[in-house]
Amino acid sequence: MQHVFHKGTDETKPTLLLLHGTGGNEHDLIGLAKKIDDTANILSVRGNVLENGMPRFFRRLAEGVFDMEDLIFRTQELNDFVTQAAEEHGFDRKCVVAIGYSNGANIAASLLFHYEDALAGAILHHPMVPRRGIELPTLTNVPVFISAGTNDPMCSAQESEDLDALLSAAGADVTTAWFNYGHQLTMPEVEAAREWYQSKF
Ligand code: MLT
Repeated sequence: MQHVFHKGTDETKPTLLLLHGTGGNEHDLIGLAKKIDDTANILSVRGNVLENGMPRFFRRLAEGVFDMEDLIFRTQELNDFVTQAAEEHGFDRKCVVAIGYSNGANIAASLLFHYEDALAGAILHHPMVPRRGIELPTLTNVPVFISAGTNDPMCSAQESEDLDALLSAAGADVTTAWFNYGHQLTMPEVEAAREWYQSKF
C-alpha cells in the first residue's frame, strides 16, 4: 500500500498507524500524530479504493452503507500490510496504535472487530460500527479512545454508543468523548486524544 514511514526517536513508544478520511491521503494526519506523540514511529497509509477519485479504505454502496465483502477483504489487506511494514521498517508489530478519522476510523475499528492482535490501541475520530452481527475477538484491556459528535450528520450518537458497547463487551478499555462540531475533527478533540494517549502509553 502507498505509505510514508517516519522513524521515531523513542523506541519504547508504539508505532502510530495513521488512517485518513474519505478523499484524504497519507500526508493528512501527520501533523495531528505529532501532536499526540512526536517521539513515536509513524506509519501513514493511503486507502487502496478510489471513489470518484477520492481515496478510501473500503468501498461503500451509499453514504454510511458499507460493501461488507470489500470491507472484510480490505481489512485483511491492511492487517497484512502492517505486518509486512513492521518487517521492512523494523518496528514491533505487537505495538501498533491506530489513529483514524471517519473512513480511516472505520477501518481501524474493523481491524479490532476482525483480528485479536492487529492493534495495541486505537484513537477513533468519528467512527461508525463497521459490521454488525459478528462475534468480536478477545480485546482484553486494549485501550480505545472514541471521539464522537453529538450532532454528527454522518454518524448518529447511537452509532458511537453501540461501538463503545460492542468493543467494551469484547473486553476493550473504551473511553468515549463527546464534542459538538458535527463530523469535523477539531483541536479540542485532538487535545482530548493526546491526554488520553499520554495516560495509556
Ligand atoms: C465511511 O464511508 O466510512 C463513512 O461514511 C465515513 C466517510 O464518509 O468516510
